[in-house]
Amino acid sequence: MNKKKLAIIGAGPSGLAQLRAFQSAQNNGEDIPEIVCYEKQSNWGGLWNYSWRTGLDENGEPVHNSMYRYLWSNGPKECLEFADYSFEEHFGRPIASYPPREVLFDYIQGRIKKAGFRDKIRFSTAVRNVEYCEKSEMFTVTVHDLVNDIVSSDEFDNVVVASGHFSTPNVPYYEGFDSFGGRILHAHDFRDALEFKGKDILIVGSSYSAEDIGSQCYKYGAKTITSCYRSAPMGFQWPDNWEEKPALQKVSGNTAFFADGSTKDVDAIILCTGYLHHFPFLPDSLRLKTNNILYPLGIYKGVVWEKNTKLFYIGMQDQWYTFNMFDAQAWYARDVMMGKISLPSIAQMQAHSEEWNDKEGTLEDAKQMIEFQGDYTQMLIDETDYPSFDIAGVNATFYKWKKDKMEDIMGYRNKSYPSLITGNDSPPHHTAWLDELDDSMTSYLKT
Ligand SMILES: Cc1cc2nc3c(=O)[nH]c(=O)nc-3n(C[C@H](O)[C@H](O)[C@H](O)COP(=O)(O)OP(=O)(O)OC[C@H]3O[C@@H](n4cnc5c(N)ncnc54)[C@H](O)[C@@H]3O)c2cc1C
Ligand SMILES: NC(=O)c1ccc[n+]([C@@H]2O[C@H](COP(=O)([O-])OP(=O)(O)OC[C@H]3O[C@@H](n4cnc5c(N)ncnc54)[C@H](OP(=O)(O)O)[C@@H]3O)[C@@H](O)[C@H]2O)c1
Repeated sequence: MNKKKLAIIGAGPSGLAQLRAFQSAQNNGEDIPEIVCYEKQSNWGGLWNYSWRTGLDENGEPVHNSMYRYLWSNGPKECLEFADYSFEEHFGRPIASYPPREVLFDYIQGRIKKAGFRDKIRFSTAVRNVEYCEKSEMFTVTVHDLVNDIVSSDEFDNVVVASGHFSTPNVPYYEGFDSFGGRILHAHDFRDALEFKGKDILIVGSSYSAEDIGSQCYKYGAKTITSCYRSAPMGFQWPDNWEEKPALQKVSGNTAFFADGSTKDVDAIILCTGYLHHFPFLPDSLRLKTNNILYPLGIYKGVVWEKNTKLFYIGMQDQWYTFNMFDAQAWYARDVMMGKISLPSIAQMQAHSEEWNDKEGTLEDAKQMIEFQGDYTQMLIDETDYPSFDIAGVNATFYKWKKDKMEDIMGYRNKSYPSLITGNDSPPHHTAWLDELDDSMTSYLKT
């Protein structure tokens, strides 16, 4: 009998989790499908694979990267640690809790290099189209080999969409933007905080990008930071040269006008206004349409496309949990594909998703949201052989992180927490985050 064939779209943390899930089954002597993972970039790692480019890449593709120089993890690494590959295993010793991007990139690569599935990835190959044929019950996936400039198609029994959802910027328009006298950019195109040294900057938005890009600009010498919120202020104890204002109304020349009637002259505007779920390669019948929430509708257990259960999505939720949640999802998707998990009827799947989605609507604060995503991750782990880990411990670490941020937004990255996988304490970093201008791995791992 012919082997089943699986296409994975994207080799970021989610796509790599899917590869690792199958490699783990293969290690256990199971017969796994033939897998092809398509990755439009020339290397793996998704957002963690930094690119200096903005706009279009060397092949004319939209640049995927939304990360920037000097980016450090914004949550404790103990909350994202792989249950089957600890930081200690990778680095040979415990390391501090808020690694810069390069360190996390190295960690992600360590596990997948050990798994040895790199040859399953077709790099520099963008997926252009996915179609499902009811008659053959197969997907036709059309891809563009960007190096050789060849478009080709292949057939697959299953498709996993792991293309991320923090790459296509959501860019609002405000009156006066057309004639603003400085640079207006989205967080997606922000690369180096030094560009804004000595400048008065306006940050629009009040979530993680707003908080972190503003903090970067503060750290690297912006003159003033003004941030403004649409719904609620971030509410941290900001440094003296950072002011938080209500919604932006318009700009005129270089003057920004806010809902409380106040104004501020600024040199640049950084739109930290989030991202769109964008799957230009999928037809309506297969395409997830959602905003950035914890429990999108249409995907059973956050993974299985209810209207065609041969299609899977990994990592499409808003994210407190990240790498270990992607793992739980990948293990679950694998077991559905391998027939180890059987699915209920579409009506039952939809009712289940609605129940969770409704529950999300009742969540009142960050603590409840963290617990919700922890419960969700646990639900998947309970149905697979992904190594169980201390979800309550991860939640507790998230609560400490929230508290540490409230106490000192510029100092929370100096804290460290024990690993929930090895139980060992993480050492404090040798230099306070605010004073550490070098974000290289060499500098971070220095003892
Ligand atoms: C600025 C920023 C900072 C973040 N910091 C943290 C952090 O500190 N800690 C944390 O845990 N999480 C962080 N995240 C969250 C981040 O979403 C996850 O860590 C993780 O990268 C998500 O993995 P993914 O594989 O789902 O998506 P991605 O990392 O986005 O990877 C998707 C991959 O799919 C590929 N792809 C897309 N379209 C196609 C196509 N058509 N054909 C072929 N390949 C395609 C892309 O090239 C990419 O390699 C951050 C996100 C952003 C935007
Ligand atoms: N160092 C790091 O690790 C780091 C740094 C940056 C980002 N990240 C990650 O990146 C991901 C995305 O974060 P994000 O902050 O970019 O997106 P996000 O969490 O989706 O937040 C989007 C923000 O934009 C605001 N917004 C949307 N449309 C707007 C409009 N028209 N006008 C004004 N405001 C608008 C939203 O306001 P409302 O609240 O009103 O909707 C919200 O504050 C997260 O997972 C985060 O953890 C990590």
